[in-house]
Amino acid sequence: MRYVRLIALAALAFCPAAPRLQGQDKQIEKLAPYYPTPETVVDKMLQLGGLKQGEKMFDLGSGDGRIVIMAARKYKADATGVEFDESLYKQSMERIKNLGLAATARIIHGDLMKQDYSSADLITVYLLPLSNDKVSPLLEKQMKKGARVVAHDFEFSAWKPAKIEDIDDDGEGRSHRLYLYRR
Ligand SMILES: C[S@@+](CC[C@H](N)C(=O)[O-])C[C@H]1O[C@@H](n2cnc3c(N)ncnc32)[C@H](O)[C@@H]1O
Repeated sequence: MRYVRLIALAALAFCPAAPRLQGQDKQIEKLAPYYPTPETVVDKMLQLGGLKQGEKMFDLGSGDGRIVIMAARKYKADATGVEFDESLYKQSMERIKNLGLAATARIIHGDLMKQDYSSADLITVYLLPLSNDKVSPLLEKQMKKGARVVAHDFEFSAWKPAKIEDIDDDGEGRSHRLYLYRR
């Protein structure tokens, strides 16, 4: 099973990710390719992060918005995603609207390195290992005391996890590892 996880990790880590984007988005560094977290794992991430009703959560690089949507829908949190990819941004906003979640969920179309996370109670992250190292100084500066971070598959090398959770099978034969950090 661990072997299957390694294949998935390699697929994410070696997916061609241009270090800088062209044109309109040229100032934005691509910190990971799009590779969605399975829904069963999304639920485990939010459980591990102890997300409570009314809390503010952010997903850094929100893809199709699945973490933000589950946070707002199931956990009744105030959920924000940040996504630079225009088509993923539009797709996730459309789904949020169709589900009637617009009051408690939204996606910021922009660079996750340029946002304000000072109000966050929980942050979720599924980015590459070197990207986590780029994000950690920003979060250290901005996050309030008691806030939590849950990282999927790739840890923050500068931080000591409060808890590590292994998921042996996500229902599709893949294993995952989650890291919980507390400020
Ligand atoms: C591995 S995917 C994770 C998607 C989602 N969080 C999930 O777990 O299902 C990483 C996402 O980060 C986005 N991304 C990468 N660099 C970014 C940046 N600098 N600003 C905003 N989004 C970014 C990618 O477009 C992609 O959708």
